Amino acid sequence: MDELERAVLLLRAGELVAIPTETVYGLGADAANPAAVARIFAAKGRPADHPLIVHIPDAGHLERWARDIPPAARALAAAFWPGPLTLILKRQPTVPDAVTGGQDTVGLRVPGHPLARALLAAFAAAGGSGGIAAPSANRFGRISPTSADHVREELGDKVALILDGGPCAVGIESTIVDLSRGAPAILRPGAITAAQIAAVLQGAPVDADTGNAAAAAAPRVSGSLEAHYAPVTPIRLVAPADLETTAQALRARGQRPALLTLMPGADDDRLAAGADAAAYAHNLYAALRQLDHLGADLILVETPPATEAWQAVHDRLGRAAAGATGKP
Ligand code: TXA
Ligand code: MG
Repeated sequence: MDELERAVLLLRAGELVAIPTETVYGLGADAANPAAVARIFAAKGRPADHPLIVHIPDAGHLERWARDIPPAARALAAAFWPGPLTLILKRQPTVPDAVTGGQDTVGLRVPGHPLARALLAAFAAAGGSGGIAAPSANRFGRISPTSADHVREELGDKVALILDGGPCAVGIESTIVDLSRGAPAILRPGAITAAQIAAVLQGAPVDADTGNAAAAAAPRVSGSLEAHYAPVTPIRLVAPADLETTAQALRARGQRPALLTLMPGADDDRLAAGADAAAYAHNLYAALRQLDHLGADLILVETPPATEAWQAVHDRLGRAAAGATGKP
């Protein structure tokens, strides 16, 4: 039996399988099986009222999970699926409350990673629901995993199987667009930008003020809680021009800073994540994990440019800085 067949059998038996997606690794369970979904919350230590994204094989499965599907949803699905976009839609009454946190909406996504797609197709073909509920495969409040090793580090003893699909191409979580209540609203920025979404919706207003939209949705979007995506080492964002002097001042006081920059440099304990937003997002979580393991007193992050391409990276850095507690 190959790994994919084993994964399908485990999902059908109500077990947890960690799956690679192009954004981050997910902790998957049969979305139609409330007992299996309950295991996700137990493994992550996640509050039960935080809804999960249901991953489906293709847009043809939308009706199985969602109702009153607006034309905007079809247009965005046609433009960006398979890919790093999650749509929030009114749910079918058959979707378990365990998946939606008891809300009247459901989050749906067709992931682009070939292994995730193959698994979803095989799961559906085997007579399964065709839906895999999967949050990021990290413990609650921690950095999302972008490799199979990260999943092992976070949840190794709690999953029946970890499918290794290599490092995640995108590296940060999907863009979430709420189409369930009037004008489309971006609840979480991601690799697919507000401008790309607005272009497909041809002038329909998009609420891209993620701060307000996310606050209005809290705590439905756990990614919108401030203390999220956090390493243990405190993080401070520093303007590029102040980076070297700040590091030197800390060292002069006997402290050990670690540095996360755009470009490589000569300092000790320094990692460069990349000078363009896509490369930076791809490397960000692995870099934060690596810097967190150094045991430095502080991680100084060189503030990236303030352009739209960097919006999702700014969002994740802001949360990491707000969430780092200094406690393991
Ligand atoms: O890229 C991703 O989206 C990854 C991969 C595995 O697909 N998944 C992910 O899941 O990031 P999670 O659970 O870590 O974050 C999903 C976010 C949560 O903040 C959750 O609250 C929100 O989606 N969400 C899910 N269903 C929702 C709903 N019905 N209404 C509002 N927000 C919802
Ligand atoms: Mg998450």
